[in-house]
Amino acid sequence: MENNSREQWGSKLGFVLAAAGSAVGLGNVWRFPFATGEHGGAAFLFLYLIAVVLIGYPLMVTEISLGRKSRKNPIGTYKNLAPDTPWWLVGGLGVITGFVLLSYYSVIAGWSLSYIFRSLGGFPEGIDAANIMFETHISGLLEPILYHLIFMVITVGVISAGVVKGIQKVVEMLMPVLAILLVAVVFRSVTLEGAREGISFLFRPDFSAVTAKTFLSVIGQSFFTLSLGMGAIITYGSYLSNKDDIPTSSIQIIGADTLLAIISGLAIFPAVFALGFDPGEGPGLVFVTLPAVFAEMPLGGIFGVLFFILLTIAALTSAISLLEVVVAYVIDEKNWPREKAALTVGGVIFLIGLPPILGYSVWSEATTFAGNILDTYDFIANSVMLPLGGALTSIFAGHALGSKNIVEEANKGATSVKIGNWVAPLLRYVIPISVLVVMLFGIYQTIT
Ligand code: PHE
Ligand code: NA
Repeated sequence: MENNSREQWGSKLGFVLAAAGSAVGLGNVWRFPFATGEHGGAAFLFLYLIAVVLIGYPLMVTEISLGRKSRKNPIGTYKNLAPDTPWWLVGGLGVITGFVLLSYYSVIAGWSLSYIFRSLGGFPEGIDAANIMFETHISGLLEPILYHLIFMVITVGVISAGVVKGIQKVVEMLMPVLAILLVAVVFRSVTLEGAREGISFLFRPDFSAVTAKTFLSVIGQSFFTLSLGMGAIITYGSYLSNKDDIPTSSIQIIGADTLLAIISGLAIFPAVFALGFDPGEGPGLVFVTLPAVFAEMPLGGIFGVLFFILLTIAALTSAISLLEVVVAYVIDEKNWPREKAALTVGGVIFLIGLPPILGYSVWSEATTFAGNILDTYDFIANSVMLPLGGALTSIFAGHALGSKNIVEEANKGATSVKIGNWVAPLLRYVIPISVLVVMLFGIYQTIT
């Protein structure tokens, strides 16, 4: 496909909303609160904010710039910018990450989708009952598979419709709804009696809960929540025009994602504390603790429905960006029509998502050091593939391509904020070294 025939975002806002939609997802509403709950509240938030500034921002600017410079999918980007070198393998890692990540992302999104209907019927009271409900749901084969399928079908539908008519249209419609729902849930949560304790949990650091694993969790969270390290942002950047402002858009995307994570914390912790539940519940926080909270609070049924609609919308706008990575590759490199690419890739990803579902029932003996099959997928994607992809992208930009080229591309169309040469040491040394050290150490800690 020639550069000039490639679709472009219909407006500046379209790109920022799409990228923010990619960023804001399960990472904010599901992972951030439970990671914060496990790793010392504000202590985790504090470390995370440092990672966002030193790693997230430079890499966001880099990925968007790489995409706009090459106007290709991640593999095509490296082939285009570094022809006849093995760098395209980094793009390949990104495409594979897309398969793995979306396969279980969709399973979790499917839980959320089914919980919309469950909350309509009201949640049972007490944490034990909530636990049983969750266990029963995830271990029943038919329902999780059905909702995973429905979620993938919707995702494929959006991607089939194209960049502007599909992705952009859907994010323009859903992102405002997401914001309104979140404000409603936060309002309910912080006005509960006893909410104060939850608010201070989020803002008062407990550094004694910080361990070596905390750092891996912080690094993994930074990549996961900002959609970095696998080429999703490269792909979205490839539909950007030269007039668009990369440094400022990056601030807006990251700002929106971080704000949404903190607001999700504000929606969840005050309610959890107010009703006397444990914030360190882990991945079950949103699916076990929260329904128990909804069961006890005034108007909890309605807010339960709103919350799970919100979570599903957030997951959908991220899932479409994950699918688009692989679909863009197949369109660019194999010349397939968009619909055929979306349907085929979506079908394969649906199948890859079946083992994680089976891992909660008939394959529950299949476990690794990371846990069950879904935990294992999550560990591989979040703690290995994303950080590795991010570190390699940084090395490519800092050493192979040269950060001068990133700075030049990023500043095309930049009006207020410009990128300076300060990114060079970050891309060359700070990001790769810190990410790889934390990643290797964290993996070692987890395996042993
Ligand atoms: N950023 C998304 C979230 O927080 C997940 C994601 C990761 C999306 C990587 C695209 C690429 O849920
Ligand atoms: Na996110």
